[in-house]
Amino acid sequence: MKTILLIISSLFTLLFCSCKEEVPVTGDGFTYTPTTALRDKASFPFGVAIQAGRISNPAYGSLVSKEFSSLTAEYEMKQNITATGPATYNWTPTDQIVNFAQANNQRVHGHALLWHSAVPDWITNFSGSSAEFDTVMKNYIHAVVGRYKGKVASWDVVNEAFEDQSGNLRNTVFRTKMGDDYIARCFQYAREADPDVWLFYNDYGTIYDNKKLDAMLAMIDDFQTRGIPIDGVGFQMHISYNWPSLSQIQNAVDKVKSRGLKIHFSELDIRANPDGDLTQLTTDRATDLQKRYKDIVTLYKGIPEAQQFGITVWGLKDNESWLINFWGNPEWPLLFDAESKYKLAHKGVIEAL
Ligand code: XIL
Repeated sequence: MKTILLIISSLFTLLFCSCKEEVPVTGDGFTYTPTTALRDKASFPFGVAIQAGRISNPAYGSLVSKEFSSLTAEYEMKQNITATGPATYNWTPTDQIVNFAQANNQRVHGHALLWHSAVPDWITNFSGSSAEFDTVMKNYIHAVVGRYKGKVASWDVVNEAFEDQSGNLRNTVFRTKMGDDYIARCFQYAREADPDVWLFYNDYGTIYDNKKLDAMLAMIDDFQTRGIPIDGVGFQMHISYNWPSLSQIQNAVDKVKSRGLKIHFSELDIRANPDGDLTQLTTDRATDLQKRYKDIVTLYKGIPEAQQFGITVWGLKDNESWLINFWGNPEWPLLFDAESKYKLAHKGVIEAL
């Protein structure tokens, strides 16, 4: 009797537990040995968001230069860092990034001239007239874009101008001071400073928030009708392993594609733990991430070559991802682990490339 019970209980365990349970693995269970670098395999620029302070670390710098052909500053080229006053600038981190890129034959994508979350206090508290504010913005855009003319290939001129769910213009200090047409004017100021630089509008949510997508498309159509310069759109692509659907992504991409603009997957990271159910990465979830990275890059490759601006992943190593603080969950959303080992996610990208 005892033996029968034991057999039944073992069968039960086998059927309902072990096949469901994900076995946590650390280390090599979800890393692998690469045979090629991303930048060597990709037919379009493959980029990463970096911090100037980290590239002097040889291990970090050598991985960035070996794997990536395009660089974006994670935060150091934003206005709250660069614009220290109406006619004073901090160029140090940007110069470091641009110099590093030139030494390693990498493109630099400028991010971002205007973003409501990176406004210096002296601009937030600006007490002059609308015309004076406009001049401040014009001078700032001319100074930054002009200084890096020929060295920075492209700029996110405005980042995240539309509100979630409604698609209304976000009520930023720029809109309050300059009026609803501020975006167009800033694109023109950037074009004045560099006739050859590519000008991007960048946002999140434009894949799954139809109101926001429509608002962005209406802006593009209006720009194209009026002859306001715009060269491309950045889809930030802060997504999860299980959301949003590929068909939603394809739908949004197709709409921008039909406008003839360049498309940048500008801040790609993929949450492995959006529901907070993991305390460490598991083999199953690492494999889910590998497949998801592969699917996203495969979709990107379907864009006509002339419109492929590139893909940028938002950070190098998992432990440095902004998502950890932003969402408060443990996360493993990138291509390298905390020890700089190549994750299966990297393999997924290579498989698609
Ligand atoms: C984030 C950076 O990752 C952080 O280091 C910084 O402190 C705040 O900004 N959308 C954007 C990026 O356009 O600039 C943001 O980057 C992430 C969300």
